[in-house]
Amino acid sequence: MKPLIDLFVDLPTWPMIRSLGIASYLMLGIGICLGILYSWPNQLPKRKLFRYKLHTFFTVGGTAVGMLHGVITVIDTYMPFDWSEVLVPFTAKHEPLLNGLGTLTVYGLLILIFTSDIRNKLKKKLWYAIHLFSYPIFAMAFVHGYFIGTDTSNEAIRWTYFATLIAVLGLTVARGIVRSAPDKKRLASRGTSSSAR
Ligand code: HEM
Repeated sequence: MKPLIDLFVDLPTWPMIRSLGIASYLMLGIGICLGILYSWPNQLPKRKLFRYKLHTFFTVGGTAVGMLHGVITVIDTYMPFDWSEVLVPFTAKHEPLLNGLGTLTVYGLLILIFTSDIRNKLKKKLWYAIHLFSYPIFAMAFVHGYFIGTDTSNEAIRWTYFATLIAVLGLTVARGIVRSAPDKKRLASRGTSSSAR
């Protein structure tokens, strides 16, 4: 029987790091889109709840997968990271800036999850202000994955990165339009009623 340590040594760590990184990035992208859809006005409560559950599943799941992806760099046999390189941003010997963005992404995600867990104890405005950091955090995940990833050389993967970005940006803009449309209507109706007075 093989010693247990051999199981780790034989693990295909590099493909694991790459595929978990892409899976995490995609889950986070889908999770953000679901968060925007969840906040859409005038939804049936059942649909809103369903979107909320999916939003939580993808963002928390994406964070867990991203953490696993980072941790596996420590047992990688080809280019192993020290724990300190993974945990302290910008201290990695290889690509310190890009790897540091990966570490900061994980910390940022953990803050988003924690503040959402204690949401009822926070002022709504504060929670929302913190939650808006999900955009720069996702941007960090994009820069980290796109510029450090071996698979970025693959055209399908490149398109996947851009499709995710376009989906997040498109939904954000659409959400902004939907939010301001009723306000404009209300203002217009107020204008007519005040001029009629
Ligand atoms: C949730 C946070 C993270 C996300 C979403 C993420 C995402 C990604 C993605 C999409 C890739 C590209 C995979 C490829 O095409 O090869 C990647 C690569 C990589 N990531 Fe992360 N990452 C995160 C956190 C971390 C952390 C904490 C570290 C450790 C410092 C790390 C280290 C690496 C390394 C070394 C690669 C290069 C793998 C290769 O050789 O291609 N990542 N990451």
